[in-house]
Amino acid sequence: MGLLGWFNHDVITVLDFNREDFEVLFSEAVNMEKYAKSRLDILNDKVLALAFFEPSTRTRLSFETAMLRLGGRVIGFSGTEATSMAKGENLADTIRMLDSYANAIVIRHSLEGAAKFAAEIAESPVINAGDGSQNHPTQAMLDLYTIWREFNIIDGLSIGILGDLKYARVVNSLVQALSYYKVKLHLISPELLKPRRELLEFMNSRGMVYDWTDDPHNVIGDLDVLYVVRIQRERFPDPIEYERVKGAYRVDLKLLSRAKPNLVILHPLPRVDEVDFTVDNTHYAKYFRQAGLGVPLRMALLKLILKGGD
Ligand code: NCD
Repeated sequence: MGLLGWFNHDVITVLDFNREDFEVLFSEAVNMEKYAKSRLDILNDKVLALAFFEPSTRTRLSFETAMLRLGGRVIGFSGTEATSMAKGENLADTIRMLDSYANAIVIRHSLEGAAKFAAEIAESPVINAGDGSQNHPTQAMLDLYTIWREFNIIDGLSIGILGDLKYARVVNSLVQALSYYKVKLHLISPELLKPRRELLEFMNSRGMVYDWTDDPHNVIGDLDVLYVVRIQRERFPDPIEYERVKGAYRVDLKLLSRAKPNLVILHPLPRVDEVDFTVDNTHYAKYFRQAGLGVPLRMALLKLILKGGD
């Protein structure tokens, strides 16, 4: 597989790229770690539009920080109250406007397929920062990058993904990204939150090695990485369904007493109640490092898309 390339490319799903592209991104991100708290003036002539139709803390602010650290500027909105969408403007017209103002557009929307739709309208590259419960490719790139920074390798690891495997877009994108590597996947969720059929079909079609359990105790001793995700309450079509699974899983010190010494716990955040606060003080907890690496990773991404490889 050759390099598909980043320059001027949309980022809609991780499957728009391949393993070599990830390697280029990761080595660029290592370089960017040096500038993540200072400044590298390489995008002075560029404007990034942030179109966040759904709540966000880390994704939006790390994109914004990344652009500022690279000398670029940022425009945009979070929520639609202050935009003309509140006057009834449609998504297509909003995207057309942003396209004429900015060099790239980052979009988060509750509708699946919104980023792809935006990419079809805009000439500037569009980066998907989450579309409904479908994809969140830059989070998955960050997840892989964090794993790679922790272990120096991804092949051969045993990775558990615990939580809402049905509605979490981060899980979809992470599993897709892991399909480029030889890993063993342990999927862990309540019965009601098992992965959707499309994801299982995807894993089968890629020949991925995986199993499923509803109890993390069954697999904790085998894991190198435990990736935890909250129950995506806002995506449940039926509140009764949510009531039946709320609080169904929790990572605590008792569970970790059976973990490998070098287990790494990741979480895209926000956390609700699925990781006990006492876990934060253990050497397993890497989710704050993971969130911090969002800046250099997104600096690398913006550089590769807006400026190219060197
Ligand atoms: C995730 C998201 O928005 O999908 N958050 C994030 O971007 N870090 C995960 C979540 O909301 O649970």
